Amino acid sequence: MRKVSEKSSIVLLRMLCMILLFQFCFSITCIQNELEALLQFKRSFDDPYYRLASWKGTECCSWDGVGCNQITQHVTMIDLRSDINQVDFYSLPLSANSIDSSLLELKYLNYLDLSGNHFNYTQIPSFLGSMEELTYLNLSFALFSGKLPPHLGNLTKLAVLDLSFNWPETNDDIEWISHLSSLQFLSLTGIDFSKTSNLIQVLTSFPWLVSLRLNYCNLQNIPFSLVSSNYSSFLSRVQLLDLSYNQLSGSIPKAFQNMTSLKFLYLSRNKFTGIEGGLSSFIRNNCGLKVINLSMNKDFGGDVFDSSYENEFVGCSHGHDLQVLQLSDTSMKTKIPIDWLGKFKNLKLVDLSYSKIHGSIPAALGNLSSIEYLDLSNNALTGEIPTSMGRLLNLKVLDISSNSLKGVLTEAHFVNLSKLHTLYLSYNELISLDMKPNWIPPFQLKKLDIGSCIGSYGSEFPQWLQTQKALDELWLSNTSLSVSCLPTWFTPQNLTTLDLSHNQIVGPIFNSIADQMPRLTHLFLNDNFLNDSLPLVLCKLKSLFTLDLSNNRLSGTVHGCLFTLNLTLLDLSSNYFSGTFPDSHANPSLLYELFLRNNNFEGSMPIVLKNAKSLKILDMEGNKFSGNILTWVGDNLQSLQVLRLRSNLFNGTIPSSLCNLPNLQILDLAHNQLDGSIPSNLNNFDVMITGKGIQEFIRFCWRRLCLNTEKNVVQFIKSNHFNYSTTQLRLMVNIDLSNNSLVGFIPKEITMLKRLIGLNLSYNNLIGTIPMEIGELESLESLDLSFNKLSGRIPQSLSKLNSLGALELSHNNFSGNIPREGHLSTFNEASSFDENLHLCGNPLPIKCVNENPYELPSKNIDDNLDQDQEDKWEKWLLYITIILGYIVGFWVVVGSLILKTGWRHAYFKFVDEGYYKVHATIWRS
Ligand SMILES: *[C@@H]1O[C@H](CO)[C@@H](O)[C@H](O)[C@H]1NC(C)=O
Ligand SMILES: *[C@@H]1O[C@H](CO)[C@@H](O)[C@H](O)[C@H]1NC(C)=O
Ligand SMILES: *[C@@H]1O[C@H](CO)[C@@H](O)[C@H](O)[C@H]1NC(C)=O
Ligand SMILES: *[C@@H]1O[C@H](CO)[C@@H](O)[C@H](O)[C@H]1NC(C)=O
Ligand SMILES: *[C@@H]1O[C@H](CO)[C@@H](O)[C@H](O)[C@H]1NC(C)=O
Ligand SMILES: *[C@@H]1O[C@H](CO)[C@@H](O)[C@H](O)[C@H]1NC(C)=O
Ligand SMILES: *[C@@H]1O[C@H](CO)[C@@H](O)[C@H](O)[C@H]1NC(C)=O
Repeated sequence: MRKVSEKSSIVLLRMLCMILLFQFCFSITCIQNELEALLQFKRSFDDPYYRLASWKGTECCSWDGVGCNQITQHVTMIDLRSDINQVDFYSLPLSANSIDSSLLELKYLNYLDLSGNHFNYTQIPSFLGSMEELTYLNLSFALFSGKLPPHLGNLTKLAVLDLSFNWPETNDDIEWISHLSSLQFLSLTGIDFSKTSNLIQVLTSFPWLVSLRLNYCNLQNIPFSLVSSNYSSFLSRVQLLDLSYNQLSGSIPKAFQNMTSLKFLYLSRNKFTGIEGGLSSFIRNNCGLKVINLSMNKDFGGDVFDSSYENEFVGCSHGHDLQVLQLSDTSMKTKIPIDWLGKFKNLKLVDLSYSKIHGSIPAALGNLSSIEYLDLSNNALTGEIPTSMGRLLNLKVLDISSNSLKGVLTEAHFVNLSKLHTLYLSYNELISLDMKPNWIPPFQLKKLDIGSCIGSYGSEFPQWLQTQKALDELWLSNTSLSVSCLPTWFTPQNLTTLDLSHNQIVGPIFNSIADQMPRLTHLFLNDNFLNDSLPLVLCKLKSLFTLDLSNNRLSGTVHGCLFTLNLTLLDLSSNYFSGTFPDSHANPSLLYELFLRNNNFEGSMPIVLKNAKSLKILDMEGNKFSGNILTWVGDNLQSLQVLRLRSNLFNGTIPSSLCNLPNLQILDLAHNQLDGSIPSNLNNFDVMITGKGIQEFIRFCWRRLCLNTEKNVVQFIKSNHFNYSTTQLRLMVNIDLSNNSLVGFIPKEITMLKRLIGLNLSYNNLIGTIPMEIGELESLESLDLSFNKLSGRIPQSLSKLNSLGALELSHNNFSGNIPREGHLSTFNEASSFDENLHLCGNPLPIKCVNENPYELPSKNIDDNLDQDQEDKWEKWLLYITIILGYIVGFWVVVGSLILKTGWRHAYFKFVDEGYYKVHATIWRS
């Protein structure tokens, strides 16, 4: 006994010695000047999360993120990579105003990773080019901008260079890149190379390059089908090639059939039309291919799988390793190539959505035993869903929504799908779900969409949902539900999205929702028969972003507490709500879209919106709102893109501050009681002039949510009304001030709004002439000036408007010939020009006395002079009024602008931050 313990204590002693020795060996203080350089480097950072807390003392080789040569003790590695997607405290970003030049002291540094940190949009410093020992340099996602320093070309030992996602300035000189011939991994994502033509030539001549990422590089001008001997050796060597998001066009060259080492190929979001030799032959030849993404090449296809694919043997000696096949949003127009797919034994992800796939889902689907993710949505699939689907043991995600499938789904369809967590079946011809009420499914779903499916449960809530405790999204639109409250057993604590729209729900559903689903962020109850008033209990849903209650029979007033939530979209339209808006002091600063149309709201502009700084769409059509359009609308709601106050009881003048809305695209004030003149500072509507920003109708949604939050905004144009969805809206620029009592002239500034598509000023009391420069409105498709008191000639420049499809000038006092040049010669409706006493020529039946279009008809000269005289007097009166108004108005507007400049900066920053937060939250959820 004793002996044993003696022995063990000797062992212990030895171990202790070794540990001490070990400690001693590796705690040698590092080289003095390198230590100082590192400390200086540390000081250059703002380190709010104390990531560099270990950077103290003298043992720099043991600091976090520092590595040394074990023999010489020289610092050889700095790895301070940050990852914003990681919740890990130790990888939160550092920030600095540039990379500190103290690094120059680290003569032996060969590995430098500063990716994900924040360098404040400064330039990548040129001194890095002197750090010639570098073999690994990663500066991706690090907020650099400006030009890339050509000095980097001195880093001839670099094997890995990653500069991606910094979006620096366009690069015209890439000569330096050609010196980096040791490169094996190169990632230049987001660098604009549109001005360089030989980039591919240079890169493909590097002898060791195996991984090349050139996505988002604006490569559309690059001749892609170069064939040189270097090129083919590159193609046979490369393992990863990413050319996605580049607008590359044409066929993928035949030479690509020889990429014998290829594992990852990303070519999405280009304009490729096909692969020479066919996709199936391409994949067959490239045996090592694991991932291929050709999504979003909209014209890719025709028959991508050559006609013989069914018989084709996949000719790779060790089988084929294809795991990911992404062909979404192409035009493949084929049937599901099921036999071909069946040859890939490791296939995990297949995305054939949005690709015009037709035919039925073959029973052989059940043979894709390794499949985990299958997206066949948004195609033209028909027929029934085979029960063999139930054999897909590994299936996690199945999306067959938006096809024309029909038939009955039973428990057998799901029998082995124990890993399934996402199931989308919605929007098919007719899928019915026939499961026993006491069915216990093998899966725990997170996301379920059975919209438009019929259940054997009739109008009840599907019983089997009782077993689904992990639900996050539940979409039950148009499923004939006529419940009045949710079953008490349905308590999915983590549910964030609930869609019960387009059903026959009546009764007090709000209480059960608020009690049973406290974490809801998106709630859709639109298009039901709800006939309550809005209960206060709704305000318990503190995380709510989206609330859609449109098209119900809800009545009563709206509680102020709704605006204390952080709603981004609120739709109350087409109900029976009434009363004035709550005078709440809430700060709905994240509200982006507010729809109140078709209710009985009354009172003034809702004061609660005064703080709605992010509001993009405000639609209040068809209520009884009254009083003046207050100046804060133009001053505060700086994000507005759509302002619709149509068909209310607003009176007073249009405040000129309204024209301060730089992003406004749609201004609809028609059918009110507005008087006064049209503000002449219309030329402040930036977007209507430049179109800049029109493409960026930012919405906080992803695919399914986008579909649901897609709202219609009615636009009256060419005397018809059109429903524009929120996405289409970005294409619309429209001003409608018709049916008011506006007086004065059409301000000539209106002709600067080059992006204007519709202009309707009809049914007012406008005087004067059409501005001569009306022809500058080059996008105009519809012009309605009828029922006013406009006079003078119809300007010749109108004939320049080649897009004009509707022109209404009737019921005015126009005179002279109707111009018949150019596009105007196609307007043959006399009614467009009717009831203008002095107008003549085609298409009116009144012949002009003088056929010379440049002279007035002699008979009318006197009348016209009188008219001109009258006009002049009216003009003078108006000028005097305007000048007086201007003197008073100037200091009110300009004075307040001067006072508020500082405050404006503050709130723009706030809006940006708010945007970022919402974004971040949504991404994380
Ligand atoms: C970032 O740069 C701006 C000037 O461009 C400067 O005002 C600001 O202080 C810098 N921020 C940091 C953290 O260095
Ligand atoms: C560079 O760092 C980023 C993370 O910030 C990483 O995703 C990327 O793979 C790295 N690049 C290389 C070539 O190692
Ligand atoms: C690095 O490259 C730049 C520009 O390409 C050049 O001017 C400079 O002399 C080079 N520096 C060294 C140390 O080689
Ligand atoms: C593929 O490579 C082989 C041998 O290197 C060559 O004979 C053949 O022509 C190449 N095919 C294409 C399409 O480039
Ligand atoms: C709900 O979410 C939490 C946190 O994400 C998770 O830990 C929990 O398991 C989830 N509950 C269910 C029933 O899935
Ligand atoms: C809304 O957001 C703000 C700031 O992001 C936050 O302080 C507030 O607590 C949120 N309100 C609710 C009801 O969650
Ligand atoms: C405008 O409408 C308000 C509220 O209906 C009314 O009190 C006011 O008298 C009207 N003003 C004019 C000038 O008609």
